[in-house]
Amino acid sequence: MSPALTIRPYSEGALTQAAAKLRAGELVAFPTETVYGLGADATNDDAVAGIFSAKQRPSFNPLISHFPDRDAAAQHAIFDARADKLAAAFWPGALTLVLPKRDDSTVSKLTTAGLPSIAVRVPAHEMARALLRAVGRPIAAPSANRSGRISPTTAAHVAASLGNAIGMILDGGPCGVGLESTVIDLTTDQVVMLRPGGITRDQVAEVLGCDVVMAETDDNAPKSPGMLTSHYAPGLPVRLNATAPDQKKYGHEILLAFGDCVTKGFDKVLWLSKTGDDREAAANLFAKLHEADQPRFDGIAIAPIPDAGLGLAINDRMKRASAPRAPHPAPSN
Ligand code: TXA
Ligand code: MG
Repeated sequence: MSPALTIRPYSEGALTQAAAKLRAGELVAFPTETVYGLGADATNDDAVAGIFSAKQRPSFNPLISHFPDRDAAAQHAIFDARADKLAAAFWPGALTLVLPKRDDSTVSKLTTAGLPSIAVRVPAHEMARALLRAVGRPIAAPSANRSGRISPTTAAHVAASLGNAIGMILDGGPCGVGLESTVIDLTTDQVVMLRPGGITRDQVAEVLGCDVVMAETDDNAPKSPGMLTSHYAPGLPVRLNATAPDQKKYGHEILLAFGDCVTKGFDKVLWLSKTGDDREAAANLFAKLHEADQPRFDGIAIAPIPDAGLGLAINDRMKRASAPRAPHPAPSN
């Protein structure tokens, strides 16, 4: 059942209600200076799975975690001198930094798509900052539109695109920038622009006093092989649609199980969802993949998962994990 939709302009009461919903694991759309975001508690696997479900996204891409200030972000990401310079120059604002994720970060593996890095941003919109302070937790937020539609810059756009999938929109008027944030990757010695946006390459280069390399990506899907290798892939081989163990061919396998699949004969079984619930499986996906990826097994078997709802995104992710792997190429530039 779709929840009744509440659209509320700025008030103490609206912020309190939105913060309570987010802390309870519900979705709330909120304004930022770039576009409206579809927010969820970034530390809650199930809430983050809800984002993918509401957007009907056919794949799991890492999401940006939003914070009220740099120090809050530094509880989850490791800032080097370059990151501190960029944060001082452009935050709050339309800049997202991809940084190494701290080992003690509580941000969900689904938020970061299993990667060892995390994308962090401090938005400038006053309503967003007040909300982030009130929630006191990182908020994962992609643009608040159904997958494949244009990014929303008013509450009415959000309502038209997601109105029957979410319970609440905070209405902060039209977004000033209207274009998503610039995404800068600082996880290597090079400074790489993953997504152009509100802040330009020249602005970033000037603050850092070095070159900024452009990555060949579009908004959501990394295209260049160099980018693909940065996506989490388990060390063990992965096979899909496993309906039975076959020790002769596959050796000792650990099974990621779903619904009423066959579990007998596998070396170990980890459940994505016992009840065959696609959302629960999505919430568990990256955590279980990491857990399964141990050298004492020869491979990871994945039970069949129906290609419907979040099953599409789960299968997309598993197909990537199971694709024959070329030796990781060195970054080309
Ligand atoms: O302006 C914006 O950035 C909006 C507002 C709501 O803040 N948010 C937004 O989020 O556009 P999203 O999730 O649609 O964009 C995330 C971008 C994607 O291009 C994704 O691939 C990249 O950031 N990204 C996130 N985490 C990453 C990571 N760990 N490594 C590489 N890229 C990452
Ligand atoms: Mg988007």
